[in-house]
Amino acid sequence: TMSSEPVNVNEFKALAERALPKMYFEFYAGGAEDEHTLKANEEAYQRITIRPRVLVDVSRIDMSTRMLGYSISSPIMVAPSGLHKLANPEGELATARAAAASNTIMILSFGSSYSVEEVAASCNAVRFFQLYVYKQRHVAANLVERAERSGYKAIVLTVDCPRMGRREADIKNRMIVSKQKNVEGLVSTEVDADVAWLKSITKLPILLKGIITHEDARIAVEVGAAGVIVSNHGGRQLDYSPATINVVEEVVHAVKGKIPVIVDGGVRRGTDVFKALALGAQAVLVGRPILYGLAAKGEHGVKQVIQMLKEELELAMALAGCTSLKDITRSHVRTERDRCQ
Ligand code: FNR
Repeated sequence: TMSSEPVNVNEFKALAERALPKMYFEFYAGGAEDEHTLKANEEAYQRITIRPRVLVDVSRIDMSTRMLGYSISSPIMVAPSGLHKLANPEGELATARAAAASNTIMILSFGSSYSVEEVAASCNAVRFFQLYVYKQRHVAANLVERAERSGYKAIVLTVDCPRMGRREADIKNRMIVSKQKNVEGLVSTEVDADVAWLKSITKLPILLKGIITHEDARIAVEVGAAGVIVSNHGGRQLDYSPATINVVEEVVHAVKGKIPVIVDGGVRRGTDVFKALALGAQAVLVGRPILYGLAAKGEHGVKQVIQMLKEELELAMALAGCTSLKDITRSHVRTERDRCQ
């Protein structure tokens, strides 16, 4: 019989679909409305080609980097996503351990199924905490204080969710998001993204997640964000917002190197990571593949997903003639826009 061992990250999706009830799988996999943006995120990477430099000694490849001063083994980090317990009983505890074992940073979601304290106790590694600021600020204030006390090193403020996107699979499945431990008892849903207020209650650096225009990127710098995450929430919020990889350069130019730019959405291959870095991102976040790894094989599956992406990135760097991340330059990729000029 043929081995069912996955050989790439995409193959974890089918394994997750087999492992999960339909309702949960579709909650993870789905996007908003026509799912145009969901598909565009992946497809946009496929339209970017790589210009390899081959006359380079690539006997040693170094993928390590720093994020806000913390060393990580590669520029591949774990995106915040809610309700990991739907994938595996160990939920975020397993994800956090896998991220720690991979020497990378996990961003714990506001909507996690384990609390900030429980996840912090499960492993000691650098973790960031993702937040939405609600009108009822005491809810956010309480969580920020708890996250800071439990050793989280940054706050990731997600700014693309003033309302929930319309995810039609969830509507059909009557998927009700009600098991989010950190947000128990929360009723208000109006986001008030006030970075100045956050800065008054915490010393932690604040990254803004969900920036996809140069206008907002400039505001992020002005208000003192420590970094921006170019994200359309994995196509789960505003459908027909652009594929994130296509707007990375716009954001990179707007922030002028003052703060790091991270991108997420549709990263499924090491070559995708390579392309994101070539266009000026410092790192990428991976969302759904982590959930699929967790659903298919628990903690080990998450480790495998990260490891596969790392191995693919290392190979892409070697074949493209880049021995360290700083060697990956704009001239190593060709976008559709380049071809038109
Ligand atoms: C998310 N995402 C997300 N983002 C966030 O800031 N807070 C959250 O609680 C969640 N929850 C969440 C749940 C699920 C099931 C998914 C799939 C995604 C968005 C996430 O952080 C990230 O932006 C995208 O998942 C990246 O796209 P890919 O890698 O999934 O294509």
